[in-house]
Amino acid sequence: YYTMLKPTFAKEVYMERRARLQKTMGSGLLLFLGNTIASYNYPDNNYMFRQDSTFLYLFGLDYEDLAAVIDVDNNRTIIFGDELTIDDIIWTGVQPTLAEKSEAVGVTETRPMAELQKYIDQAVAQQQKVHFVPPYRGHTIMWLRELLGKEAQPSLDLIYALADMRNHKAPEEIAEIAKAIDITVDMHETAIRMVRPGVTEKDIAAAVCEVAQRKGYYLSFPTIATNHGETLHNHGYIHTLQDGDMLLLDAGAETEMHYAGDCTTTMPVGRDYTQRQKEVYEILYRTYEEATRMIRPGITYRECHVRAWANIAEGLKGLGLMQGDPMEAAEAGAVAMFMPHGLGHMMGLDVHDMENYGEVHVGYPRGAEKDPRFGFRSLRLGRTLEPGFVFTVEPGIYFIPDLIDQWKAAGKFKEFICYDKLEAFKDFGGMRNEEDWLITSDGASRIGRKKPNSMAEIVAMKG
Ligand code: GLY
Ligand code: MN
Ligand code: MN
Repeated sequence: YYTMLKPTFAKEVYMERRARLQKTMGSGLLLFLGNTIASYNYPDNNYMFRQDSTFLYLFGLDYEDLAAVIDVDNNRTIIFGDELTIDDIIWTGVQPTLAEKSEAVGVTETRPMAELQKYIDQAVAQQQKVHFVPPYRGHTIMWLRELLGKEAQPSLDLIYALADMRNHKAPEEIAEIAKAIDITVDMHETAIRMVRPGVTEKDIAAAVCEVAQRKGYYLSFPTIATNHGETLHNHGYIHTLQDGDMLLLDAGAETEMHYAGDCTTTMPVGRDYTQRQKEVYEILYRTYEEATRMIRPGITYRECHVRAWANIAEGLKGLGLMQGDPMEAAEAGAVAMFMPHGLGHMMGLDVHDMENYGEVHVGYPRGAEKDPRFGFRSLRLGRTLEPGFVFTVEPGIYFIPDLIDQWKAAGKFKEFICYDKLEAFKDFGGMRNEEDWLITSDGASRIGRKKPNSMAEIVAMKG
């Protein structure tokens, strides 16, 4: 073979997952469309292939142009796909057959893709309900319309069943996530060691990508490497770093089996943080540490989020930037000025796990709605924490000039925010610290190797 079978868990893992899903659903036809290859600029020049995570979770097969059904009513599981033709093999080399790939994940029935439509038409004719999860790629949306007609709607029952399974990570998944995080920490340590005046954001972005790629891993999301951390998704890489700057690095690796890591470090570019940076970092670090001490089974992540906001308010009050009762400021949403995102999100096969199902279905109790207020609505995980949950803890403190101007002009939360003092911080930038945690039976544990989080740890690593 030119390519060996790509890594999967033992076939029993997938067989057990599918059996459990089948039992929960009770009836119907469950339809799973894998991802296809997407063209970059012409048909034979492609983006890197990324398999759909639901398909990976249930079938483990990291290959393009596959579909599968779990026919609950008839107790059958079938993978649909086509064998390579000689025209393909000239370009790809000999590859494992569909039957060989499927056998490795415990599926013994395979059929050509052309038979999928017939199978579905028959199921529909027999009044079987067809369940699928929300598609997120244009191609899949069109493929589903072709197969089922344009009225077909995603299945909430299937979403909830899968979210419940995937939210509770099994030991083999946690081990895989730990591998992703260990490489993620290597990426962060590489950046801490190399950052100094004159290094560019591009240098950092390239170096952390190299760390992942050298292990055969890739990135779990586009790297954020910026001296303007207050812009939350800053992918510009346009700056040459200077003494007095901070570099915010938010980067993570994805293992060959596509489990993610997601960490953020905010490091000084020069030898040390400036005095003003130290004052804010200390607040961030205390907030981070307290959040990691709060998380345990039974507490809601919304409560941890609001407590983190209150801790930030209390610290900023000490700097003269906020006033009033910190907890009241948090509950009112005023601290969203300084941290407009949530404290964290579920992580697994996706860095924001299952966000394609609708984040409210994953991060909130069944039927609940998200708080629509600014700041609160960005909290992707709000529900009661349960053993097996894997998620990020990522408080941040940002000074966003446009947001300051807008809220100041509107007089928003002026009982809590000291706008006059805040003017001087419009050039501060932003900081965040992020690691990935697991809820255990009686508390929580960091997954993988610990990353430098405190100022002392970060500065010591710079050497
Ligand atoms: N890297 C995206 C996030 O931290 O959520
Ligand atoms: Mn994150
Ligand atoms: Mn992140």
